[in-house]
Amino acid sequence: MALRDPVRPPERFLVFGRPTIEDAEVREVVASLESGWLGTGPKVARFERDFGASEGASHAVAVGSCTAALHLSMLAAGIGPGDEVITTPLTFCATINAILHAGAVPVLADVDPRTMNVDPARVAERIGPRTRGLLPVHFAGRPCDMAALGELCERHDLKLIEDCAHAIETRVDGRPAGTFGDFGCFSFYATKNITCGEGGMVLARREEDAARLKVLALHGMSKDAWKRFSDEGYKHYRVTDLGFKYNMMDLQAAIGLHQLERIERWWLRRQEIWRRYDEAFADLPLATPAPPEPGTRHALHLYTVLLDESRAPLSRDAFLERMTRENVGVGVHYLAVPEHPYYQERFGWRPEDTPHATSIGRRTVSLPLSAGLSDEDADDVIRAVRGILAG
Ligand SMILES: Cc1ncc(COP(=O)(O)O)c(C=O)c1O
Repeated sequence: MALRDPVRPPERFLVFGRPTIEDAEVREVVASLESGWLGTGPKVARFERDFGASEGASHAVAVGSCTAALHLSMLAAGIGPGDEVITTPLTFCATINAILHAGAVPVLADVDPRTMNVDPARVAERIGPRTRGLLPVHFAGRPCDMAALGELCERHDLKLIEDCAHAIETRVDGRPAGTFGDFGCFSFYATKNITCGEGGMVLARREEDAARLKVLALHGMSKDAWKRFSDEGYKHYRVTDLGFKYNMMDLQAAIGLHQLERIERWWLRRQEIWRRYDEAFADLPLATPAPPEPGTRHALHLYTVLLDESRAPLSRDAFLERMTRENVGVGVHYLAVPEHPYYQERFGWRPEDTPHATSIGRRTVSLPLSAGLSDEDADDVIRAVRGILAG
């Protein structure tokens, strides 16, 4: 197929997942720098309070990433060697690695091809004598079937850890994702719905779990470093656990605090773009995301289309390349976990073991959806996709 003129001049490449940073964040970061307080301090404490309140959770613990949040949650849940944790094959490697770093074994249950979330019926089939936990991912921001998964956890006495990296705005009957399980883990990575540059948060149901997470996030020390150096006078710390350097800095919280205020406005903006895409792509050889289930709120984090390669004029990978040449950044969420050599070699996993996730991973393309996209940016995405696929 002949290449048309690029829809955007080369200097205006539309970066996939570009964050929106406003003046308030810049001023807050500068104020932190000038205050001399860069590390974990009062802004992190405020960010924990504000984020916990916006998600209706009483215990929120800020950490350096969602990866750290997932790892610590595994440990605080008491999951370790000899245990199995059931999770989805359609996720970022961090989900799987958190289970491995805790010394446990991940067990994959295939996804529902419509929702792209882990299928409770497949989860039920994978539960065995060593199963200790369930780690669902609210894929793209669409809530998992929490009623069915919660029921399985109750029946089999499993810890429930929710991967909410995509799910800040996700609700089921008004209840926020991350509050169904024992732990809910969020990401503030640069491409997420709100960002700290890097950052993560754990919502914990029990106060004692939150306290353990805090200790584990900072070397296993019994007191926060910022309390040690505050004007309250020197406080000795004691190492009470084998911890990690997983704390969030005030510099990161300085960004996140202001992003928090815009969650709703940005969600509404993404919804506008989402609807325009749905309309613009309806006649193309691709499947647009399924509508949200009744009574739920989709966080609208990723707009993932599935290319119909039997009708499309080119392969998925060729489409990715063409979009890039048209100056539009794209993503793939995700190649199924069993496609990766490390897991194949370690566990003998094969792509055909989780056929729905594998099929999605080989056909999917994520299009730009950031709240900072202008109408013209969205038009450019639409023009590029239609120019390539409409024939
Ligand atoms: C589903 C999922 N889980 C976990 C993570 C890890 O998040 P972080 O980069 O904050 O460690 C990501 C990040 O992209 C993700 O998409």
